[in-house]
Amino acid sequence: MASSGFNAEQIILLVAVVTSLSTFTQATTVVVGGSENWRYGYNYTEWAANTAPFYFHDTLVFKYDNTTTHSVYMMPNLWSYLQCDFGKAKLLANTTQGEGDGFRFVLNQWRVFYFASGEANDCKDGQMKMVVVPWPRF
Ligand SMILES: *[C@@H]1O[C@H](CO)[C@@H](O)[C@H](O)[C@H]1NC(C)=O
Ligand SMILES: *[C@@H]1O[C@H](CO)[C@@H](O)[C@H](O)[C@H]1NC(C)=O
Ligand SMILES: *[C@@H]1O[C@H](CO)[C@@H](O)[C@H](O)[C@H]1NC(C)=O
Repeated sequence: MASSGFNAEQIILLVAVVTSLSTFTQATTVVVGGSENWRYGYNYTEWAANTAPFYFHDTLVFKYDNTTTHSVYMMPNLWSYLQCDFGKAKLLANTTQGEGDGFRFVLNQWRVFYFASGEANDCKDGQMKMVVVPWPRF
């Protein structure tokens, strides 16, 4: 007789493995820029390089108060990211949404994320942009 699926022992083992792996898959929350928050003039390329790896389902928190006027956009591709061209960029958080606990963004897609602030010269001169690539946990 052909066996179909798992027997009870295998299921118990599977549950045990999945349960123990889940302690490693705990997503983390990372404040972008650390104590510098999301501000003009801080090198986020460097920060991202030093903070990586980021993992799938991790949460990035962008904190900025409304006295400094920043925002968070997702750039559609590397070219627009490099050029700070917001023509086809997607607004994720406007100038007031970084208040308080900040704007939270979950890395919930397998893609390259290009983030940038779209206000004044934040992107071009203020270094307020970074590339994040989520990694699988294991
Ligand atoms: C920011 O940091 C990156 C990576 O360390 C470096 O290549 C780049 O020159 C820095 N940018 C500025 C404007 O200092
Ligand atoms: C800016 O932030 C302050 C303090 O959180 C708040 O009282 C004020 O309403 C905010 N202004 C705008 C335009 O959101
Ligand atoms: C930012 O977005 C929030 C939520 O959609 C909205 O209430 C607020 O008026 C917006 N602020 C600005 C400056 O557009």
